[in-house]
Amino acid sequence: LWSVDKYVDTIESASLLEEAAKALKSDEVVAFPTETVYGLGANAKSDTAVEKIYKAKGRPNDNPLIVHISDYSELDELVESIPAKAKKLMDAFWPGPLTVILERKPGVLSEYVTAGLSTVGIRMPDHPVALRLIKKSGLPIAAPSANQSGRPSPTSAKHVMDDLSGRIAGVLDGGETGVGVESTVIDCSLEPPMIFRPGGISKEQIEVVIGYVDIDPALHENEKEKPKSPGMKYTHYAPDAPMYLVEGDQAFLQQLIEEKRETGLKVGVLATEESATGYDADAVIPCGSRGDLESVAHSLYDTLRAFNEENIDVIFSEVFPYQGIGLAIMNRLEKAAGKQWIYQGS
Ligand code: TXA
Ligand code: MG
Repeated sequence: LWSVDKYVDTIESASLLEEAAKALKSDEVVAFPTETVYGLGANAKSDTAVEKIYKAKGRPNDNPLIVHISDYSELDELVESIPAKAKKLMDAFWPGPLTVILERKPGVLSEYVTAGLSTVGIRMPDHPVALRLIKKSGLPIAAPSANQSGRPSPTSAKHVMDDLSGRIAGVLDGGETGVGVESTVIDCSLEPPMIFRPGGISKEQIEVVIGYVDIDPALHENEKEKPKSPGMKYTHYAPDAPMYLVEGDQAFLQQLIEEKRETGLKVGVLATEESATGYDADAVIPCGSRGDLESVAHSLYDTLRAFNEENIDVIFSEVFPYQGIGLAIMNRLEKAAGKQWIYQGS
């Protein structure tokens, strides 16, 4: 564990960052903070290095990785061309939580990064530790979220250690991440561009900049179609206990809690700051404020992980509007719950 201050401005932090960059250059894997979640980085040009990512995470190898850069000058080497809409999005949201998929130049990146696709997803993260690490390494850095495959993404160095300790060269600890859910993934090799994964930049924000965009039909509620982004088809973000999304009022949810407790089960509730004191259950965990969906996104993965420490048999979760960052929150909750819903009055 390499603890650095967020702006890497002490001599000690700078030398730890140097050490981490050196590990990347020697094809080792290193976890680092971004503004969304912690990433597990490796040299994107090296098969040996990228294989270590899949191995450490236990990740299926048909699921491509996002390539992280620290400067626009690194783009030309990686992609064939930059369509006008992609350029506008980069100018508006980079550095930031947006991954842009473009046609890649063949022969530059390890084939393991792109999992056989002709495209590559690229992003410039908005975090001083990430940007400096990438710059120091002098390499494009392939980095998925630094969790064990299937678990909630890590928003602190502790989460990374809990999942990957002993399997990676090190973690740069830059404190808690800010946004809390992953970047939005948008394919700009399509016209109109299509959102494959909702995330830190909302569809509404994107449409202000480039007009109408599609959204992968597989993301719509109850859709059975196969998602276009390979990673979206896996169960994900799941806490250990089964989870249900509850569409109904607080009294209805309390009634569900009581029914389960009568059968001897321990019940957890994913609530909000506004509602938490209104439930009587074995573990009621507030996840941000309903009046501020950014705060819900920020706390979401830590909350999902916290239920695992509570010896809970079943979790009931409140739900949120499918708007703004709410779309990303609900996408992750649906995955965590395996799309199990309970509706009041049905
Ligand atoms: O915020 C984030 O994006 C974090 C931080 C570390 O940057 N990274 C992250 O990576 O969430 P990962 O590997 O957990 O998720 C990448 C997603 C997967 O769903 C993957 O299938 C999709 O992006 N993806 C990557 N390249 C793609 C491509 N060429 N075509 C389609 N989907 C792609
Ligand atoms: Mg992930």
